[in-house]
Amino acid sequence: MSGLIKEKMKKICKGTLSRIEKVSLNTYLIEIDLPYQINAKAGQFISICCEGLTLRRPFSIYSQTDNVIGILFKERGKGTEYIKSLNQGDLIDIIGPLGNGFNVNNKKVLLIGAGIGSAPMAFLKTQLDKKGIENLFASGFLNKTEIPSCLSVDRIYTDDGSLGEKGSIITYLDKLIKEYNPEIICACGPAIVLKSVSQSGEKYGIETQIAMEKVMACGIGVCRGCVISIKKGLEIVNATVCKDGPVFRGSEVIWPQ
Ligand SMILES: Cc1cc2nc3c(=O)[nH]c(=O)nc-3n(C[C@H](O)[C@H](O)[C@H](O)COP(=O)(O)OP(=O)(O)OC[C@H]3O[C@@H](n4cnc5c(N)ncnc54)[C@H](O)[C@@H]3O)c2cc1C
Ligand code: FES
Repeated sequence: MSGLIKEKMKKICKGTLSRIEKVSLNTYLIEIDLPYQINAKAGQFISICCEGLTLRRPFSIYSQTDNVIGILFKERGKGTEYIKSLNQGDLIDIIGPLGNGFNVNNKKVLLIGAGIGSAPMAFLKTQLDKKGIENLFASGFLNKTEIPSCLSVDRIYTDDGSLGEKGSIITYLDKLIKEYNPEIICACGPAIVLKSVSQSGEKYGIETQIAMEKVMACGIGVCRGCVISIKKGLEIVNATVCKDGPVFRGSEVIWPQ
Protein backbone atom coordinates (compact mmCIF):
# COMPACT_ATOMS: atom_id res chain seq x y z
CA MET A 1 0.00 0.00 0.00
CA SER A 2 1.38 3.45 -0.93
CA GLY A 3 2.35 5.86 1.85
CA LEU A 4 -0.29 8.36 0.69
CA ILE A 5 -3.16 5.83 0.85
CA LYS A 6 -1.91 4.66 4.25
CA GLU A 7 -1.92 8.27 5.49
CA LYS A 8 -5.50 8.82 4.22
CA MET A 9 -6.69 5.58 5.82
CA LYS A 10 -5.25 6.78 9.09
CA LYS A 11 -7.68 9.67 9.12
CA ILE A 12 -11.02 7.95 8.43
CA CYS A 13 -12.01 4.40 9.17
CA LYS A 14 -14.38 2.00 10.83
CA GLY A 15 -12.98 0.65 14.05
CA THR A 16 -14.42 -2.08 16.26
CA LEU A 17 -15.65 -1.24 19.73
CA SER A 18 -13.58 -3.53 21.95
CA ARG A 19 -14.62 -2.16 25.35
CA ILE A 20 -17.41 -0.04 26.79
CA GLU A 21 -17.60 0.59 30.50
CA LYS A 22 -19.39 3.01 32.78
CA VAL A 23 -16.63 4.63 34.86
CA SER A 24 -18.56 7.21 36.87
CA LEU A 25 -22.16 8.32 37.37
CA ASN A 26 -22.29 9.90 33.89
CA THR A 27 -18.99 9.01 32.21
CA TYR A 28 -18.10 6.13 29.89
CA LEU A 29 -14.82 4.68 28.71
CA ILE A 30 -14.74 3.17 25.26
CA GLU A 31 -11.88 1.52 23.42
CA ILE A 32 -11.82 1.19 19.67
CA ASP A 33 -9.73 -1.33 17.78
CA LEU A 34 -8.47 0.34 14.62
CA PRO A 35 -7.43 -1.55 11.49
CA TYR A 36 -3.96 0.03 11.74
CA GLN A 37 -1.65 1.52 14.34
CA ILE A 38 -1.65 5.27 14.86
CA ASN A 39 0.73 7.50 16.78
CA ALA A 40 -1.60 9.85 18.62
CA LYS A 41 -0.32 12.89 20.45
CA ALA A 42 -1.99 13.96 23.70
CA GLY A 43 -4.40 16.82 22.98
CA GLN A 44 -5.43 15.37 19.62
CA PHE A 45 -8.99 14.19 19.18
CA ILE A 46 -11.15 11.86 17.11
CA SER A 47 -14.48 12.70 15.53
CA ILE A 48 -17.20 10.06 15.76
CA CYS A 49 -20.09 9.62 13.35
CA CYS A 50 -23.29 9.09 15.36
CA GLU A 51 -26.25 7.38 13.67
CA GLY A 52 -28.99 9.84 12.65
CA LEU A 53 -26.86 12.95 13.29
CA THR A 54 -25.31 15.09 10.55
CA LEU A 55 -22.39 16.42 12.58
CA ARG A 56 -19.72 14.15 13.92
CA ARG A 57 -18.93 14.55 17.62
CA PRO A 58 -15.34 15.32 18.72
CA PHE A 59 -13.67 13.56 21.69
CA SER A 60 -10.13 13.90 23.03
CA ILE A 61 -7.92 10.85 22.97
CA TYR A 62 -7.57 9.42 26.47
CA SER A 63 -5.35 6.44 25.71
CA GLN A 64 -3.60 4.61 22.92
CA THR A 65 -1.91 1.25 22.97
CA ASP A 66 -0.82 -0.02 19.56
CA ASN A 67 -3.97 0.08 17.45
CA VAL A 68 -6.43 0.52 20.33
CA ILE A 69 -7.60 4.02 21.08
CA GLY A 70 -9.61 5.05 24.14
CA ILE A 71 -11.90 7.98 24.87
CA LEU A 72 -13.72 9.04 28.03
CA PHE A 73 -17.05 10.73 27.40
CA LYS A 74 -19.70 12.36 29.46
CA GLU A 75 -23.33 11.73 28.57
CA ARG A 76 -24.81 14.95 27.16
CA GLY A 77 -27.26 14.64 24.25
CA LYS A 78 -28.16 12.45 21.24
CA GLY A 79 -24.58 11.82 20.08
CA THR A 80 -23.27 10.56 23.38
CA GLU A 81 -26.53 8.63 23.95
CA TYR A 82 -25.86 6.83 20.65
CA ILE A 83 -22.24 5.99 21.57
CA LYS A 84 -23.39 4.79 24.97
CA SER A 85 -25.88 2.43 23.30
CA LEU A 86 -23.17 0.62 21.30
CA ASN A 87 -22.06 -2.88 22.22
CA GLN A 88 -18.72 -4.61 22.16
CA GLY A 89 -18.02 -5.75 18.60
CA ASP A 90 -20.03 -2.95 16.95
CA LEU A 91 -18.38 -0.96 14.18
CA ILE A 92 -17.72 2.69 14.87
CA ASP A 93 -16.96 5.29 12.21
CA ILE A 94 -14.19 7.68 13.25
CA ILE A 95 -11.89 10.33 11.79
CA GLY A 96 -8.62 10.92 13.55
CA PRO A 97 -6.33 11.63 15.16
CA LEU A 98 -7.14 15.28 14.42
CA GLY A 99 -5.66 18.58 15.61
CA ASN A 100 -2.22 19.53 16.83
CA GLY A 101 -1.73 18.23 20.42
CA PHE A 102 0.50 19.43 23.27
CA ASN A 103 4.18 20.20 22.71
CA VAL A 104 6.09 19.89 25.94
CA ASN A 105 9.68 18.89 25.05
CA ASN A 106 11.66 18.18 28.20
CA LYS A 107 10.14 20.74 30.52
CA LYS A 108 8.85 20.11 34.05
CA VAL A 109 5.07 20.11 33.55
CA LEU A 110 2.08 20.90 35.72
CA LEU A 111 -0.99 19.20 34.22
CA ILE A 112 -4.37 20.69 35.07
CA GLY A 113 -7.56 18.80 34.18
CA ALA A 114 -11.04 19.97 35.05
CA GLY A 115 -14.01 17.63 34.72
CA ILE A 116 -13.98 15.58 31.52
CA GLY A 117 -11.06 17.80 30.42
CA SER A 118 -8.98 15.49 32.60
CA ALA A 119 -9.13 12.84 29.83
CA PRO A 120 -6.51 14.34 27.47
CA MET A 121 -4.37 15.35 30.47
CA ALA A 122 -4.29 11.71 31.62
CA PHE A 123 -3.06 10.74 28.15
CA LEU A 124 -0.40 13.46 28.31
CA LYS A 125 0.71 12.17 31.73
CA THR A 126 1.08 8.64 30.33
CA GLN A 127 3.18 9.94 27.44
CA LEU A 128 5.37 12.11 29.71
CA ASP A 129 5.90 9.26 32.19
CA LYS A 130 7.03 7.00 29.32
CA LYS A 131 9.61 9.59 28.33
CA GLY A 132 10.68 10.18 31.95
CA ILE A 133 9.57 13.83 31.90
CA GLU A 134 8.82 15.20 35.38
CA ASN A 135 5.15 16.10 35.84
CA LEU A 136 2.38 16.61 38.38
CA PHE A 137 -1.23 15.91 37.40
CA ALA A 138 -3.89 17.84 39.35
CA SER A 139 -7.52 17.29 38.54
CA GLY A 140 -10.73 18.96 39.70
CA PHE A 141 -14.34 17.76 39.63
CA LEU A 142 -17.66 18.97 40.97
CA ASN A 143 -17.96 15.98 43.29
CA LYS A 144 -16.70 12.41 43.67
CA THR A 145 -19.53 10.84 41.65
CA GLU A 146 -18.10 12.57 38.54
CA ILE A 147 -14.61 11.13 38.88
CA PRO A 148 -13.90 8.29 36.41
CA SER A 149 -12.74 5.19 38.31
CA CYS A 150 -10.01 4.62 35.71
CA LEU A 151 -8.40 8.03 36.23
CA SER A 152 -5.05 8.13 38.01
CA VAL A 153 -4.03 11.56 39.33
CA ASP A 154 -1.49 13.07 41.76
CA ARG A 155 -3.84 15.66 43.32
CA ILE A 156 -7.62 15.67 43.38
CA TYR A 157 -10.02 18.51 44.21
CA THR A 158 -13.79 18.49 44.42
CA ASP A 159 -15.99 21.57 44.68
CA ASP A 160 -18.00 19.97 47.51
CA GLY A 161 -15.05 18.32 49.25
CA SER A 162 -16.48 14.80 48.76
CA LEU A 163 -12.98 13.61 47.66
CA GLY A 164 -9.56 15.23 47.93
CA GLU A 165 -9.23 18.87 48.85
CA LYS A 166 -12.37 20.99 48.91
CA GLY A 167 -12.91 23.77 46.40
CA SER A 168 -12.53 24.56 42.71
CA ILE A 169 -9.16 23.70 41.20
CA ILE A 170 -8.94 27.37 40.17
CA THR A 171 -8.46 28.39 43.80
CA TYR A 172 -5.49 25.99 44.11
CA LEU A 173 -3.58 27.16 41.02
CA ASP A 174 -1.34 29.64 42.87
CA LYS A 175 -0.53 27.09 45.58
CA LEU A 176 0.26 24.36 43.01
CA ILE A 177 2.54 26.68 41.01
CA LYS A 178 4.44 27.89 44.10
CA GLU A 179 4.88 24.36 45.47
CA TYR A 180 5.74 22.57 42.23
CA ASN A 181 7.56 25.36 40.35
CA PRO A 182 6.71 24.10 36.83
CA GLU A 183 8.38 25.29 33.61
CA ILE A 184 5.16 24.80 31.66
CA ILE A 185 1.47 24.33 32.52
CA CYS A 186 -0.84 22.30 30.25
CA ALA A 187 -4.58 22.33 30.82
CA CYS A 188 -7.95 21.18 29.53
CA GLY A 189 -11.40 21.93 30.92
CA PRO A 190 -14.09 24.60 30.92
CA ALA A 191 -13.13 28.06 29.58
CA ILE A 192 -13.16 29.59 33.06
CA VAL A 193 -10.42 27.18 34.19
CA LEU A 194 -8.38 27.69 31.01
CA LYS A 195 -8.61 31.46 31.39
CA SER A 196 -7.40 31.23 35.02
CA VAL A 197 -4.52 28.95 34.01
CA SER A 198 -3.49 31.43 31.27
CA GLN A 199 -3.66 34.35 33.71
CA SER A 200 -1.62 32.46 36.34
CA GLY A 201 0.96 31.63 33.64
CA GLU A 202 1.25 35.31 32.77
CA LYS A 203 1.45 36.29 36.44
CA TYR A 204 4.34 33.89 37.16
CA GLY A 205 6.00 34.11 33.70
CA ILE A 206 5.31 30.43 32.91
CA GLU A 207 4.38 29.14 29.44
CA THR A 208 0.85 27.71 29.26
CA GLN A 209 -0.71 25.42 26.68
CA ILE A 210 -4.46 24.93 26.81
CA ALA A 211 -6.80 22.63 24.87
CA MET A 212 -9.83 24.61 23.72
CA GLU A 213 -13.34 23.34 22.97
CA LYS A 214 -15.65 24.70 20.29
CA VAL A 215 -18.69 23.14 18.62
CA MET A 216 -17.36 21.55 15.44
CA ALA A 217 -18.79 20.60 12.07
CA CYS A 218 -16.14 19.27 9.63
CA GLY A 219 -13.37 18.82 12.23
CA ILE A 220 -10.66 19.19 9.57
CA GLY A 221 -10.29 22.93 9.00
CA VAL A 222 -12.62 23.29 6.00
CA CYS A 223 -15.96 24.76 7.15
CA ARG A 224 -14.44 27.51 9.36
CA GLY A 225 -17.21 26.84 11.88
CA CYS A 226 -14.82 26.66 14.83
CA VAL A 227 -12.78 29.81 14.22
CA ILE A 228 -11.49 31.84 17.18
CA SER A 229 -9.38 35.01 17.19
CA ILE A 230 -5.87 34.69 18.57
CA LYS A 231 -2.92 37.06 19.07
CA LYS A 232 0.13 36.47 16.87
CA GLY A 233 2.68 39.09 17.84
CA LEU A 234 0.97 42.43 17.34
CA GLU A 235 -1.64 40.97 14.99
CA ILE A 236 -5.00 39.36 15.68
CA VAL A 237 -5.63 36.42 13.36
CA ASN A 238 -8.30 33.76 12.92
CA ALA A 239 -7.48 30.17 13.86
CA THR A 240 -9.53 26.99 13.62
CA VAL A 241 -9.83 25.07 16.87
CA CYS A 242 -10.03 21.76 14.97
CA LYS A 243 -6.92 22.13 12.78
CA ASP A 244 -4.73 24.94 14.18
CA GLY A 245 -5.70 23.80 17.70
CA PRO A 246 -7.27 22.51 19.83
CA VAL A 247 -4.07 23.30 21.78
CA PHE A 248 -3.07 26.97 21.88
CA ARG A 249 -0.65 28.95 24.00
CA GLY A 250 -2.67 30.55 26.79
CA SER A 251 -1.02 33.89 26.01
CA GLU A 252 -2.43 33.78 22.43
CA VAL A 253 -6.08 33.36 23.34
CA ILE A 254 -8.42 36.36 23.43
CA TRP A 255 -10.95 35.77 26.22
CA PRO A 256 -14.41 37.35 26.18
CA GLN A 257 -14.61 40.07 28.87
C1 LIG B 1 -11.71 19.13 20.71
C2 LIG B 1 -12.85 18.61 21.59
C3 LIG B 1 -12.57 17.57 22.44
C4 LIG B 1 -13.61 17.08 23.26
N1 LIG B 1 -13.32 16.04 24.08
C5 LIG B 1 -14.29 15.51 24.84
C6 LIG B 1 -14.01 14.38 25.69
O1 LIG B 1 -12.88 13.86 25.76
N2 LIG B 1 -15.05 13.87 26.42
C7 LIG B 1 -16.31 14.42 26.37
O2 LIG B 1 -17.20 13.93 27.07
N3 LIG B 1 -16.59 15.49 25.60
C8 LIG B 1 -15.62 16.03 24.82
N4 LIG B 1 -15.91 17.10 24.01
C9 LIG B 1 -17.29 17.62 23.97
C10 LIG B 1 -18.12 16.69 23.11
O3 LIG B 1 -17.75 16.89 21.75
C11 LIG B 1 -19.62 16.99 23.29
O4 LIG B 1 -19.96 16.67 24.61
C12 LIG B 1 -20.43 16.14 22.36
O5 LIG B 1 -20.23 16.58 21.04
C13 LIG B 1 -21.91 16.24 22.77
O6 LIG B 1 -22.68 15.61 21.79
P1 LIG B 1 -24.19 15.19 22.09
O7 LIG B 1 -24.86 14.95 20.79
O8 LIG B 1 -24.25 14.10 23.09
O9 LIG B 1 -24.81 16.46 22.80
P2 LIG B 1 -25.57 17.71 22.17
O10 LIG B 1 -26.96 17.68 22.67
O11 LIG B 1 -25.37 17.84 20.71
O12 LIG B 1 -24.80 18.91 22.84
C14 LIG B 1 -24.52 18.96 24.24
C15 LIG B 1 -23.33 19.87 24.45
O13 LIG B 1 -22.20 19.47 23.66
C16 LIG B 1 -21.76 20.53 22.80
N5 LIG B 1 -21.52 20.00 21.43
C17 LIG B 1 -22.47 19.46 20.63
N6 LIG B 1 -21.96 19.12 19.43
C18 LIG B 1 -20.66 19.44 19.46
C19 LIG B 1 -19.63 19.38 18.51
N7 LIG B 1 -19.81 18.88 17.28
N8 LIG B 1 -18.43 19.84 18.87
C20 LIG B 1 -18.21 20.30 20.09
N9 LIG B 1 -19.15 20.41 21.05
C21 LIG B 1 -20.37 20.00 20.74
C22 LIG B 1 -22.89 21.52 22.75
O14 LIG B 1 -22.39 22.85 22.64
C23 LIG B 1 -23.58 21.31 24.07
O15 LIG B 1 -22.97 22.10 25.07
C24 LIG B 1 -14.91 17.64 23.20
C25 LIG B 1 -15.16 18.71 22.32
C26 LIG B 1 -14.14 19.20 21.54
C27 LIG B 1 -14.40 20.34 20.61
S1 FES C 1 -15.00 22.37 12.42
FE1 FES C 1 -14.81 22.94 10.32
S2 FES C 1 -13.11 24.24 10.36
FE2 FES C 1 -13.17 23.49 12.37
